Amino acid sequence: MSDDGLKKIISHAKEYGFVFPSSEIYDGLSAAYDYGQLGSELKNNIKQYWWTAMVRMNENIVGIDAAIFMHPTTWKASGHVDAFNDPLIDNKDSKKRYRADVLIEEHIAKIEAKIQKDVTKAAKRFEDAFDEAQFRDTNPQVLRRQGEIDDINARFKAAMDADDLAAVKTLIEDLGITCPVSGSGNWTDVRQFNLMFKTELGAVSGDSGVVYLRPETAQGIFVNYLNVQKSGRMKLPFGIAQIGKAFRNEIIARQFIFRMREFEQMEMQFFIKPGTQEEWYNHWKEARIKWHKALGLGEENYRFHDHVKLAHYADAACDIEFNFPMGFKELEGIHSRTDFDLKQHEEFSNKKLRYFDPETQESYVPYVLETSIGLDRMFLAVLSSALREETLEDGSERTVMAIPFALAPVKAAVLPLIKKDGLPEKAREVLAQLQLHHNVQYDEKDAIGRRYRRQDAIGTPLCITVDHDTLNDHAVTVRNRDTMQQERIAIADLNAYVDGLVSMASLFQA
Ligand code: GAP
Repeated sequence: MSDDGLKKIISHAKEYGFVFPSSEIYDGLSAAYDYGQLGSELKNNIKQYWWTAMVRMNENIVGIDAAIFMHPTTWKASGHVDAFNDPLIDNKDSKKRYRADVLIEEHIAKIEAKIQKDVTKAAKRFEDAFDEAQFRDTNPQVLRRQGEIDDINARFKAAMDADDLAAVKTLIEDLGITCPVSGSGNWTDVRQFNLMFKTELGAVSGDSGVVYLRPETAQGIFVNYLNVQKSGRMKLPFGIAQIGKAFRNEIIARQFIFRMREFEQMEMQFFIKPGTQEEWYNHWKEARIKWHKALGLGEENYRFHDHVKLAHYADAACDIEFNFPMGFKELEGIHSRTDFDLKQHEEFSNKKLRYFDPETQESYVPYVLETSIGLDRMFLAVLSSALREETLEDGSERTVMAIPFALAPVKAAVLPLIKKDGLPEKAREVLAQLQLHHNVQYDEKDAIGRRYRRQDAIGTPLCITVDHDTLNDHAVTVRNRDTMQQERIAIADLNAYVDGLVSMASLFQA
């Protein structure tokens, strides 16, 4: 899918109540969005899927809900006050502002696309005899291009490690990167820009009252490490999970809900014995990709991307990238954060944040393995892989949101065939029977075919029709969104039938 694909998603999301631009009656606020009546259901379901997988299915992981405001020293200790910066650059002609690292990444993505084109062409030519790995290792053109990428990455990493912003600008100029708006390479110097939002607490003014909106939820977990460990009598290894809002004053926030200034994260810090980080890094990489793939959004839509430039707290890190409408982009991060955060908090708070290991009788600061996924990005991944236009056998068209059944905002729609003869009353009985267990809609307006289309467009897995026979045989017709097959099910068996298809448990049985 392309940018055009993203436009279709944005307009469908608005038309059907998934996502609205924030404060739209005032023409909206850049990069802020509101989740509508269906969007908030989908978002809750994604949260539930994550919480079940991380907290409920792991005996040694517990969840917390920390405040957004934290003592300002938290952010000094974590390094965010000094180092949570993005390198920004302005184009003097268009006056547009860019992230210097993103300009470079996009340049690399163009070279990668050329390599991919060569690979696809060769695969077509050699058909079954094609060995992709061998082609990538030996084809002179691919090797030259890969060399170019490696060289750019090395220069960028060296410049950033040395905090040499002039070298970043030189790299942009050397690569001939131009502004997509003005087309010129007339750039300002590269500057660092801190991404934290600052505000003031109560009536206190001046520096002593400054607080920040948290830029990640993780620090709420670190400062509670000892509270949870002691009150929960947790033994290493153990994890603390949290879902909550985070705020970043992104230089350019765009691409719908992909990059916002207010967003939600689902993060888990896994506290481990020092020296075991590699083992746990691999464990969580595997566990997280399994969680993604169980949704059935297409295995080919995921890939790992190792970080070249590590964040100030990490000794290893990678992203799980998803094939969004604008290409492969970061969906989730897996970071080996060492003992950086806890040690920093020990130093700045003067409180010991240690673990006494009863086996070795030693006391040490645990290492931390982090998994961090953006809830809004996960929402976009689901939406963008789900939306499709289909031509049916009879030549008619339908727009269907093939959202995984367990995540669908509405699980079933109960539809009386006509609005009389006691069918609405019977349908409402069926509705009441299901409502307690699932989010179910009732719809009696328009012909049945149009009602099916409306439900397809919002991704409802099951349409349950109550007809005249229902009054005698106490059974209903259930239509499956994806197969469009219809099955007659006894009302007495309906709850179990619906449950079997839409419950979250199905995602864990793979
Ligand atoms: N605690 C580590 C951390 O915050 P990160 O890679 O900066 O790491 C984690 O962020 C995840 O949060 C990202 O993979 C992404 O899904 C999401 N995220 C980050 N910035 C975002 C933004 N501006 N809008 C939406 N989601 C964002």
